[in-house]
Amino acid sequence: MLVLIVGITGNVGQKLVEPLRKRGAQVRGLARHKSKMNSDNLLALESFHDMEAWHDVPAIRKALRGVDTVICAYGPVPELVLEGQLLLVRLMEEQGISRFIPAAWNLDWTALDWGDIVYYDLFLATQRQLAVSPTIKPLYVFIGFFAETFFSLPSLGVFNPATHGVWDSNDGAPRAEFWGTGDEKWQITTEQEAAEFTAALVCDQSRQSGRYRYCSWEYSIKEIAAVYEKEKGIAVRLEPQGTLDDLKAIAAADQHELGLSRFWEWMGYTYQIHHMSGKALMTTRDDNLYPEVKKVGLGQFLREYPEI
Ligand SMILES: NC(=O)c1ccc[n+]([C@@H]2O[C@H](COP(=O)([O-])OP(=O)(O)OC[C@H]3O[C@@H](n4cnc5c(N)ncnc54)[C@H](OP(=O)(O)O)[C@@H]3O)[C@@H](O)[C@H]2O)c1
Repeated sequence: MLVLIVGITGNVGQKLVEPLRKRGAQVRGLARHKSKMNSDNLLALESFHDMEAWHDVPAIRKALRGVDTVICAYGPVPELVLEGQLLLVRLMEEQGISRFIPAAWNLDWTALDWGDIVYYDLFLATQRQLAVSPTIKPLYVFIGFFAETFFSLPSLGVFNPATHGVWDSNDGAPRAEFWGTGDEKWQITTEQEAAEFTAALVCDQSRQSGRYRYCSWEYSIKEIAAVYEKEKGIAVRLEPQGTLDDLKAIAAADQHELGLSRFWEWMGYTYQIHHMSGKALMTTRDDNLYPEVKKVGLGQFLREYPEI
């Protein structure tokens, strides 16, 4: 099977190469900057195709030739989620390619309503377009938060209190801002496990479309702090911010003041609202679908990243 990874130079794209190859797939890459590829990954590819940007139609057409499955690993940028993916899908249809893993690896947005988390509106719109396509067969993967994003590891996403997230490593004196009781669960997955699960799904030819859900850990912030304290022997300062209703009020005020065009500045609140209320939580999971995808414990993950 020949798999094309579009946006292969990103965090997720690069992590997919080895898990796909070890399951017997040939991997082709398409991205803007070949120099960003890890050299082992580059050598392992069937081929690498350069593109100018997401709207480089000739490059995309060329990269799609002979491909069985397309994984879109574009980064979290609105124009890539909607326009970039719709163009990619249009060109897949042209070449009769149907099997598609859209960029997701998100909180579970399938029960969300339009406007709940505005960035996810773009995924809902893309999903609707794919659903009415007579040819495209999408396989969506939901994973909650990436662990790397939840803990705001450098260049792997940010969800710290400055962006209305939770965890602040604070130079070795960690603290966490939370809303509600602190017993609400967070669903978190490492990028590597998300890539392993996705690769297993892609290489399982019996799976032609559908929604799949995987998560490494489901812990409250109090439980995360307890694991942290046990692993590192350092206390975590837990800082309650108010109730869910307080959070909704502050989010609504910020949204009203800053508007949609500055959604990145207030969106963190809305992730928290819909995670806490359960509307963006995965209620069923496929963690056991591929037993070879091994879970790394939170303690081990924390040991691997002394900067957290
Ligand atoms: N649940 C979570 O906590 C969470 C957190 C982060 C991301 N995600 C999801 O994970 C997926 C992948 O994210 P990531 O962190 O791997 O992304 P990333 O590292 O930021 O980038 C992925 C790819 O997008 C490419 N790209 C960026 N702008 C482009 C453009 N204008 N035209 C063409 N290509 C462009 C990048 O190319 P260059 O290398 O050339 O820049 C790179 O190959 C996204 O779908 C996102 O929704 C989820």
